[in-house]
Amino acid sequence: MNEIIEQRIQKLLYQMTPEEKVGQLQQCGPSLVGAFEVSFEELLNMMFDGRISQEEFGRLMGTAKQDYHEEDLRAGRIGSYNGIGDAETANRLQKIAVEETRLGIPLIFGYDVIHGFKTITPIPLAESCAFDPHLWERTGRMAAREATASGVHMTFAPMVDVAKDARWGRVSEGAGEDVLMNSLYGAAKVRGFQGEDLTAEDAMAACVKHFAAYGAVEAGRDYNRVDMSLQRLFEEYLPSYKACVDAGARAFMPAFNDINGVPCSVNGWLLKKVLREQWGFDGMTVSDANAIAECVNHGIAEDRREAAVQALEAGMDMDMTSNCFIENLTEALKDGEVSMEALDRAVGDILRVKFEMGLFEHPYRASAEREEAQLSQENRALALEAAVKSAVLLKNEKELLPLSKQTKIFLAGELAEQGDEMTGAWAIGAPGGICVSVREGLIKAGAVLVDTSEEAEVILAAIGEHKDQSGEASSRADISLPADQMEIFKAMKQTGKPVAVILFNGRPLAIPELAEQADAILEAWHPGVEAGNALAALVFGEAMPTGKLTTTFPYTTGQCPMYYAHINTGRPGGRAKFTSKYLDTPLEPVYPFGYGLSYTSYEYSGLQAEELEEAFRISVTVKNTGSRDGEEIVQCYVQDAAATGRVRPVRQLKAFEKVKIPAGESRAVSFMIPYSGLGYYDREMNYVVEEGEFRFYVGGDSANCLEISAQL
Ligand code: NOJ
Repeated sequence: MNEIIEQRIQKLLYQMTPEEKVGQLQQCGPSLVGAFEVSFEELLNMMFDGRISQEEFGRLMGTAKQDYHEEDLRAGRIGSYNGIGDAETANRLQKIAVEETRLGIPLIFGYDVIHGFKTITPIPLAESCAFDPHLWERTGRMAAREATASGVHMTFAPMVDVAKDARWGRVSEGAGEDVLMNSLYGAAKVRGFQGEDLTAEDAMAACVKHFAAYGAVEAGRDYNRVDMSLQRLFEEYLPSYKACVDAGARAFMPAFNDINGVPCSVNGWLLKKVLREQWGFDGMTVSDANAIAECVNHGIAEDRREAAVQALEAGMDMDMTSNCFIENLTEALKDGEVSMEALDRAVGDILRVKFEMGLFEHPYRASAEREEAQLSQENRALALEAAVKSAVLLKNEKELLPLSKQTKIFLAGELAEQGDEMTGAWAIGAPGGICVSVREGLIKAGAVLVDTSEEAEVILAAIGEHKDQSGEASSRADISLPADQMEIFKAMKQTGKPVAVILFNGRPLAIPELAEQADAILEAWHPGVEAGNALAALVFGEAMPTGKLTTTFPYTTGQCPMYYAHINTGRPGGRAKFTSKYLDTPLEPVYPFGYGLSYTSYEYSGLQAEELEEAFRISVTVKNTGSRDGEEIVQCYVQDAAATGRVRPVRQLKAFEKVKIPAGESRAVSFMIPYSGLGYYDREMNYVVEEGEFRFYVGGDSANCLEISAQL
């Protein structure tokens, strides 16, 4: 804690009226007003449920204007805005806060900068497949530079919700099913967003979300319940949020879901005991949108006032757009339902972040001049690098890829033409028309594109999910390839020509037919603004596919949740009848966690384990057995062979390294696996590291590894 900042907070708190204090907790978004009598949200619902047509919606939107609630701002009733992404508006509103409110407390502007602001980089799930913390940090830094130019002070990212269920639409927003991957990804993003100096004009506070375990919603249905043992919560879900606290994240967003019956928005155990007392977090918490009001729907609060009281007392600081705090807390304070202590704590947390960011000294960090550097060549080059590194080659029969530029290619599928689809979910800051489509990218690279499949030597089928098929409120009960996309594939397959699939998606898909029948599959995810250029580079071999899956690809939806770090059960799945499996689907996934091919191949040998003072050293030799120089992501997994009192996963990723290996050469790779990280929570919730046998698995994916045993 910074003593000077704490004194400044106390001084301000002393001057503030209860109304001004409650005002600091209020985050509002601009409302749309126009020639419609219902709220914008209701209007959207009316379009979605068919009460009005899209055309009618469009016409009404044409009449809409933004209402920034400036009177409330002047009266000290707003502490933050959400969703303002231009320098001029941000500075104008900031000027009102600084010059026209009684105490001149600056606003903090929040925004969903999830995978780029204007220069959209691959969706987080894709980028995680690069296994590259340095890349994640660099793209985070770029996003911060662009967003802060337009007035954003805080991003509602990273999302570090471990997500093992492919039905959940939001798997696209995080680093997949593994807790280590989400921890490293989250910490790198926090460093990238915030930079080294929070007072710098391009520093953007990270608001880590969704705390906690939102990725474990039952049946993968968005906003659903989460019910799990505390041991599992602390071992498999919480470490990624903790890693972000340790990386210095300044804000946290409690999740929509409940955990074991208590919605996170009013969960004092989670927000106070775990986050603040155990982990030492001293930044601000911001509710998810409307989440405080939704505690009434959860059935844990009788009305909005009770929801506000519960949330504040539980440790919630800022109310994102539900208005429950602003409407109720002053009265609730008068009536003794909330304490001044709780209110001061919440205001103090928010002021702390505003002071730490230097907003009192430099409230106008947005600048039209800095906005000009958005979408620069340099930024696009980084987006290109990220898209290339995020792609995963899933299949490549007879080395169909890479193609020569002289190959006659027929390009199938509407996704090949739809540049705007390439952003994927959550690209709200990006204007339309900025993405390079696959067709444009191939043409620019000099591809020989033909007009009919008859003329073609090879067919490239650009198929998969459109961007609105993943993301928030986009859970799917069937994760197979959408039917219209399957039709395209089948039609192409019927031509008898070799078909290479370029797959676009925001989640793992159940694609056994493609895995069997396609000649090649290049998993592109939703790759961002440089989609077409990245894919052309990969298709023509100017770049090597190096990505590996951070999420398991099941055979069929019925296997969800399917993930590599499962436990054995007493009857591990096998050939025998009475074992843990389904009658109608194979035991193994179509593609396992960690899997990914390249245009070369690798051989692993000489696995060794040494017991050092504080860690195991695990060493292996990896040989590039192909004819091209490559880069392999070497993975090290561990299993606790028998733990006292608890079952443990069959294997868990503990370390990885991305190693460049020239064709024909070998590289020695070694990992230090500290004993302190090999523990687990016993039945009484004590973290214990136990002596005994540990099995190490090292290889190029989670299913194909060399194995060695070691004693601790
Ligand atoms: C709801 C989403 O759950 C959250 O991730 C997002 O940051 C907020 N809305 C604000 O848009």
